[in-house]
Amino acid sequence: MSSPSELIFFVNGKKVVEKNADPEEVLLSFLRRKVGLTGTKYGCGGGGCGACTVMVSTYDRNQRTVVHYTVIACLQPIVTLHGAAVVTVEGIGSTKTKLHPVQERIAKAHGSQCGFCTPGMVMSMYTLLRNKPQPTMEDIREALGGNLCRCTGYRPIIDGFKTFCESEQSSGCCQNGRAGGECCLENGAKGSKTNNSKESDQISQELFPMDCFLPLDPSQDLIFPPELMIMEKKVSGDALYFQGERVNLVAPFKLSHLLELKAEHPSAPLIVGNTTIGPKMLLKGVYHPLVIYAGRISELKAVTWGETGLTVGAACSLSTLQKEVEKVVVETEEEKTRGYRALLQTLRCLAGKQIRNMATVGGNILSANPKYDLSSVLAALDCTLHVISKDGMRSIPLDEKLFADFGKTVLRPEEVLLSIDIPYTKPWEFVAAYRQAQRREFAFSFLNAGMKVAIKEGTDVVESLSIYYGGVGPTLVKPKLTCQQLVSRSWGEDLLSEGCRLLKEDVDVSPSIHGGRAEFRKTLAISFFFKFYMQVVLEMRERGVSDADFPLEYLSALKPFKNEVPQGQQSFQLVSEAQPSADLVGRPSMHQSAFQQATGEAKYYDDLPLVQGELFIFMVTSTRAHAKIINIDPSEALKMPGMVTFVSAGDVPGANCRLWFNNPEELFAEEEVVCVGQIIGAVVAESREQARRAAKEVHVTYHDLQPVFFTIEDAIRHESYFEPKRKVERGDVDEALKTAEHILEDEIYMGGQEHFYMETQGVIAVPKGEHEEMDLFVATQHAAFTQELVGMALGVDSNKITCHVKRLGGGFGGKVMKIASLSAITAVAAHKTGRAVRCCLERGDDMLITSGRHPFLGKYKVGYNNDGTIVAADITYYSNGGSTLDESAFIMDKAVLHMDNGYKIPNLRGRGVVCKTYLPSYTAFRGFGGPQGLMVMESVLHEVAVRCGLPAEKVRDINMYREEQSYTHHKQPFNPTDMVRCWDECLERANYQDRLRAVQLFNSSNRWKKRGISAVPQKFGVGFSKGFCNQGAALVNIYKDGSVLVTHGGTEMGQGINTKAIQIASRVLKVPVSSIFTKETCTGNVPNAAPSAASFGTDAVGMAVKDACEKLMRRLQPLMEKNPQNTWKQWVNEAFFQKTSLSATGFFMGPPTDVDWEKGEGQAYYYFTFGACCSEVEIDCLTGDHKNIRTDIVMDVGKSINPALDIGQVEGGFVQGVGLYTIEELQFSPDGVLMTRGPSQYKVPALCDVPAELNVHLLANAENPHAIYLSKGIGEPPVFFGSTIFFAIKAAIAAARTERGLGDAFPLSSPATAEKIRMACQDEFTKMASPPTDGAMAPWCLDV
Ligand SMILES: Cc1cc2nc3c(=O)[nH]c(=O)nc-3n(C[C@H](O)[C@H](O)[C@H](O)COP(=O)(O)OP(=O)(O)OC[C@H]3O[C@@H](n4cnc5c(N)ncnc54)[C@H](O)[C@@H]3O)c2cc1C
Ligand code: FES
Ligand code: FES
Repeated sequence: MSSPSELIFFVNGKKVVEKNADPEEVLLSFLRRKVGLTGTKYGCGGGGCGACTVMVSTYDRNQRTVVHYTVIACLQPIVTLHGAAVVTVEGIGSTKTKLHPVQERIAKAHGSQCGFCTPGMVMSMYTLLRNKPQPTMEDIREALGGNLCRCTGYRPIIDGFKTFCESEQSSGCCQNGRAGGECCLENGAKGSKTNNSKESDQISQELFPMDCFLPLDPSQDLIFPPELMIMEKKVSGDALYFQGERVNLVAPFKLSHLLELKAEHPSAPLIVGNTTIGPKMLLKGVYHPLVIYAGRISELKAVTWGETGLTVGAACSLSTLQKEVEKVVVETEEEKTRGYRALLQTLRCLAGKQIRNMATVGGNILSANPKYDLSSVLAALDCTLHVISKDGMRSIPLDEKLFADFGKTVLRPEEVLLSIDIPYTKPWEFVAAYRQAQRREFAFSFLNAGMKVAIKEGTDVVESLSIYYGGVGPTLVKPKLTCQQLVSRSWGEDLLSEGCRLLKEDVDVSPSIHGGRAEFRKTLAISFFFKFYMQVVLEMRERGVSDADFPLEYLSALKPFKNEVPQGQQSFQLVSEAQPSADLVGRPSMHQSAFQQATGEAKYYDDLPLVQGELFIFMVTSTRAHAKIINIDPSEALKMPGMVTFVSAGDVPGANCRLWFNNPEELFAEEEVVCVGQIIGAVVAESREQARRAAKEVHVTYHDLQPVFFTIEDAIRHESYFEPKRKVERGDVDEALKTAEHILEDEIYMGGQEHFYMETQGVIAVPKGEHEEMDLFVATQHAAFTQELVGMALGVDSNKITCHVKRLGGGFGGKVMKIASLSAITAVAAHKTGRAVRCCLERGDDMLITSGRHPFLGKYKVGYNNDGTIVAADITYYSNGGSTLDESAFIMDKAVLHMDNGYKIPNLRGRGVVCKTYLPSYTAFRGFGGPQGLMVMESVLHEVAVRCGLPAEKVRDINMYREEQSYTHHKQPFNPTDMVRCWDECLERANYQDRLRAVQLFNSSNRWKKRGISAVPQKFGVGFSKGFCNQGAALVNIYKDGSVLVTHGGTEMGQGINTKAIQIASRVLKVPVSSIFTKETCTGNVPNAAPSAASFGTDAVGMAVKDACEKLMRRLQPLMEKNPQNTWKQWVNEAFFQKTSLSATGFFMGPPTDVDWEKGEGQAYYYFTFGACCSEVEIDCLTGDHKNIRTDIVMDVGKSINPALDIGQVEGGFVQGVGLYTIEELQFSPDGVLMTRGPSQYKVPALCDVPAELNVHLLANAENPHAIYLSKGIGEPPVFFGSTIFFAIKAAIAAARTERGLGDAFPLSSPATAEKIRMACQDEFTKMASPPTDGAMAPWCLDV
């Protein structure tokens, strides 16, 4: 290796020169830790979330132009950036200088809640605008396809960004009339202020004004550094060498040098985009001492068009390929470009834009991963690979023979892929590409396929047929028999049946296939062929050579779902005209920190600068589900570089336990482990990389114990339950069941859910060096509990432990419990070492350790009459609590207490049992058992409707609570009027009856696509059923300059609690919101606060802030009356000089909610939030794909304090529910190991999952006398509305089944994944994919 090269690149216009750049360092950590630019966020570290998106600009020597593109900073090694300019969110604008319009608009449009995804969103949009200042909506959709947001539901982000769209877009903006005509920026309107509804003079649809937007000003953009341009033009042609601590990297400039290197170091991987090798090295610990970077070789990047088609260099990015192909399909005759069209279809939904910008064509093929999509389609297109080595060049066909095994090709180690020929199609060749994944976009496919048939000119006879599948085995598969035997046959029905029969034999999907789903994959393989058959028939019929026929309804098989940009209306009631304009309560006000979040200035715990001497902690977790710990040996780890110490139970000076309502849970497992992922110890090292590596060297010896089981069913068999069990009953269920006209006994299973807050859990523990004081900067929803636990673990009084919570990058209930244990462990390490210790869980560990929403099984027996009236229901809820109780009992309480939803079922019994299994302990998650409890009841309603042959909405309607004085099944009185209003208004706004008819019509004329529509009402209890939690506290200080500091016990996690607190303080104190500030949540300022949870945060904190402000006003009142002409500042000063305290605490004692579980009755909730939701979906019966067409929500939030934030909660919660009930699927291995540990395996909703039309209306004229300013809590209820998508899917499947003569009553568990949809739409193809025969085979994963 020659001497190391100097790495030169620019960050935000500043030159970076690294003399000893480490090849293992990726841009994300470099920016965050070396440059101190923390705006770019870590969300997953594997390219799957987009939080780390930045723009890279390079000078393209060949095209003599600067190109801008987004990249994923977590996978971009810095050494591959030589000569590039990086722009981060901090580089485009700031609150100190000037915001960039992208930053301003996402903020003002309420597109930033917790703000953790916001910088990534901003950079994706910014880069789009750099390349195309007037983008289309489709451009925006494409640009944001690789950015996840867990809070907003995406709609407001789109609303902010669509203001940049071309003027022809109905809702777009022409940027100050550039395209002629009147501009929205001038007339200040976003749609109309009012709609045509009954309350038209009071209802607004304007969540943000558009009249104060900054115009897009390209002069604000950083220019590409001229120095880099000169450098690139004068490039010497020398290779670059980088030497790291462990890994060396060579970046040759010349092809010949690359070939020499490959000959010399055949086992060194060649990287370009690093999107395959990167995750392996970074996340899976694969080690390569030498890596060769081939991204500087121009021959590998060449794109040439010749007589026969395209030759694309192996190092061309997928985006480059996409751009080339997009151009040619527009410019060239259709028959030549059929293959390219098919390729485009695949490219457009392959990964996200950032990954496509980095990932290369060669890398995609040679990674030899069957879930990568390109090989199947390129093989079908008869592509040729040109492979080169020192010994010369050879060409090999891209077909199944190229792939030797998973991850292996037949290329010799010293060979390099130079280029790929992708030929034009010939006139009588027909091509298609298919893929089906967990999510339509930004997800690896379960199965991908490329198919091409050549027909003898002027006939319908097959000349040749190529079919390739990725995903039916470890390598690309060509069903040879099928391809051979169909040659010379007429492309007609006989060929179809023969083809399917042959495929059945030819495609052998092993039941033990990696990733499971063998039956589904095989079904897809045959279904794709069926689609292809029809597509070709259609094209041949157009040419008049086919007399093959199929019914018109079959055409629906062909049209793929189009991803659309979500649009919709949001409406809310305006405040009365008499309300002073400075009083912002009731008005849609921007999140207090939105600008800081959009500029990357907002600080999350891991953004805090290094504390002097800081160490990093990494957890060592159990690999066994149930075992005795024989020995923990950290000796190897302690020898690793940078290693400082190992901590475990013996190091805890206080109590090694987390105590929660008298239920202890160990911080460190001491003698026995009870789940995979349980913390056994932790390594503490100088850096996170060192800590991560050392953790792998801690050796734990176990002795496996019995029993070990993971599922609810197994727990029932073992009678393994936690106490207490619950029962609530009204009426006489057993008697009523005897009199009912019909009885239905069934069950529904609902899988769990991962929080997937974008910011992973973590804390920084800083010992203060005296009196055992310790400060913790922590992402917790429950600062007081964290403080208490840290104190207990250290054996130190709480008054010496201070928790600071600035903000959370999302919480959703997941940062209440486990974070307290993590904080205590980190504090123990800080105590032991006497140094600050930082803990920042990697995404995979976060998912493994912290767990999520409980899986539930609801078993029910229902008595109902012919008209759909339910006379009795007996439901037993089983939840999987995991290995410790955590919050499971309270969560079960909530499920049981919510079981009646909006229905007056006169005889109703609910039992709740928490199962104890050997899984990581399940915990709180937005909705807290409500979504599960409600789901089972709605399943009952749905199934009764099906059995009665009635529309489900009718059965819901007929069973609904209606009397003004109604009682829940736990005897809590309530008035359901506003629930019924929501329901009626929702059905009306959704035009339900007409659309139901339209759905039926659609279904009767489309065989392979079906639609379903479903609506549910909701009654959701707000507040804690443990009455003492319903309290809030605040501290309000007024300073002599008149400024006000509001501190409260709530935590800001995106829901806007601080914004609402400021609005409230502003109303009471009558000072502008600009004079009021909330800094952080701090246990030193407001002690003993309840968690921010149960939708109760604003209720509790708002009242407390009001109380404190009112106290202050009472003190100031005499001065104000004495000198009414004075200003606020003068009054405040006067008060100071009169020795009046300008600091006040506020307190809110909520209602005494409680349930007497002996009797099963009580006032469980403070009040109920109501709502109703209606959704329509379309499913593809052949693939299981589904599209969310439209959702209408009417929500009763009382008198909203901030309609923008409340609508944001509704939309965000709903979309989280869409994930819960449709695509989010956690997979546990038969050994109880969580396999889905990152966004590549676990799919939360992306932009493509939001209904194309999403309308949210806040119920007008609704008031809630029980909460602050007549408002209602809203955080949790909307999650359940995601179930409308589930029931609409179920209705659509039922339509398909009915048509095939199958019963419309069938089981479907949640989530309704593509696999379940496809397999429930039973047909001739599912029958062909016979289930795995070997009964002894362990399943791939368990329904836990
Ligand atoms: C979050 C994420 C989502 C993704 N989603 C999808 C998806 O939906 N569909 C899909 O198809 N793919 C998907 N991918 C995979 C992605 O397309 C591939 O990782 C990418 O194409 C590999 O190219 P690369 O340049 O980044 O490869 P690198 O990681 O740089 O290299 C990959 C491999 O290819 C070899 N190699 C590369 N070029 C050559 C060459 N010229 N000669 C010899 N060997 C070579 C290397 O030795 C190495 O083994 C996804 C990846 C990520 C990270
Ligand atoms: S952190 Fe880079 S994509 Fe998730
Ligand atoms: S605002 Fe998008 S993840 Fe929180």
